[in-house]
Amino acid sequence: MRAYEIIKKKRDGGSLDKEEFQFLIRGYLSGEIPDYQMSAFLMAAFLRGLNEEETVSLTDVMLRTGEVLDLTEMDAPRIDKHSTGGVGDKVSIILAPLVAAAGVAVPMISGRGLGHTGGTLDKLESIPGFRTEMSIIDFRHTLWEGGAAIMGQTDDIAPADRRLYALRDVTATVESIPLIASSIMSKKLAEGLNGLVLDVKVGSGAFMKTMEDAEALASVLTNTGNSFGVRTVAVITDMDEPLGRAVGNALEIKECINVLKGRSDNDLLEVTLTLGAWMLYIADWVQRAVDNPGTEVPRITSVDEVALADKRAELEELIETGKALESFVDFVERQGGNPEIIANPGLLPGASQMKQVQVSKSGYIQRVDAEKVGTASMLLGAGRQRLEDGIDHAAGIMLNRKSGAAVQAGDTVAVLHYNDDGNLSEALRLVGEAFEIGPEPPGPRRMIRKVVL
Ligand code: URA
Repeated sequence: MRAYEIIKKKRDGGSLDKEEFQFLIRGYLSGEIPDYQMSAFLMAAFLRGLNEEETVSLTDVMLRTGEVLDLTEMDAPRIDKHSTGGVGDKVSIILAPLVAAAGVAVPMISGRGLGHTGGTLDKLESIPGFRTEMSIIDFRHTLWEGGAAIMGQTDDIAPADRRLYALRDVTATVESIPLIASSIMSKKLAEGLNGLVLDVKVGSGAFMKTMEDAEALASVLTNTGNSFGVRTVAVITDMDEPLGRAVGNALEIKECINVLKGRSDNDLLEVTLTLGAWMLYIADWVQRAVDNPGTEVPRITSVDEVALADKRAELEELIETGKALESFVDFVERQGGNPEIIANPGLLPGASQMKQVQVSKSGYIQRVDAEKVGTASMLLGAGRQRLEDGIDHAAGIMLNRKSGAAVQAGDTVAVLHYNDDGNLSEALRLVGEAFEIGPEPPGPRRMIRKVVL
């Protein structure tokens, strides 16, 4: 086999088999295949696409370049939630302790923010002392004891993805549905899961800008997960506007604490409860098969809406009774974070400077463009342009008003938090432009666009 022939085959629209992917990926990791050949292959795959069988094969090969956790010693079903990335998306931080409080194990391997999108690890690291780097042994132990654990990708988990993602980032080959799917799933399938809920974001702040692309990605992701025996459901949710009101790491942690205390905006709560209900639903589905040894866990092909609504009500009750908040305190403490931040969020990093943004005309806010707000937040220091950049945990943006609100010219609609004013004027311009004002109230914002089984 020669890399040249494989690249040529893909360039000409052929389909590759597992051995060919294995040759390429292993050769790349061992240094026998250089960056320039792998880049050529990635561009050929980007332009020609990969069919579902190829996507599953590539995922399998990438997954097996690292360790696959065996968590079968856990009594509870192991269910994760993964988002394709957005602005103000702090759902994982609320869901991990919330779903653990319902008796489901939540092993999460999460990522960092890049460009206009935020990352769960950066948000959690704004909690003083919180550790996201841990050994797999510590991860298991935390999960076993507390029911939820969140850590970063280690060198042992799907190392091929790390290398390929870095190369895709500089060769304009990130936005490819099969490459995104194999990248996400190679990491998720290493977690030793029974079930997975995918939050596929659609809109200006998401990778997928159209419903058509979001549905295509959701379908490839669910098929890939299910073909590995992990019961996988994708929920397509709105990312045209930031989720909730806070964008930026410590600001988002404060908002998570408010949600767990029962104070939340509807969009954030709606997405959180919908995804959480699906996690509990899949956990029950898996448990039923475990209770009947010898039966395989079937793929979910239809939904019992009453059971799903019950799961949502169970989560609401955990929030109302304070059990979800207790679980969050426990989760923060187990990962080394200072639990005092929950009673006293003022202990989180705060910015030295703030600047208000006012609207210049009266009317109704039609939408607050997620990509513009995310980019502005990154420019204030909350995010990074390249993976190796540092970030400022205190920086970010609070949205005082969101779509549907009536505003008068001169009303303050957002507040920028920052320590470094190097990019302030650009951030102010972007946030000002993000608020689209019209004469009539917009139609209701539909957060949950579609569920793909
Ligand atoms: N997130 C990932 O983990 N991989 C991609 O390719 C895109 C988003």
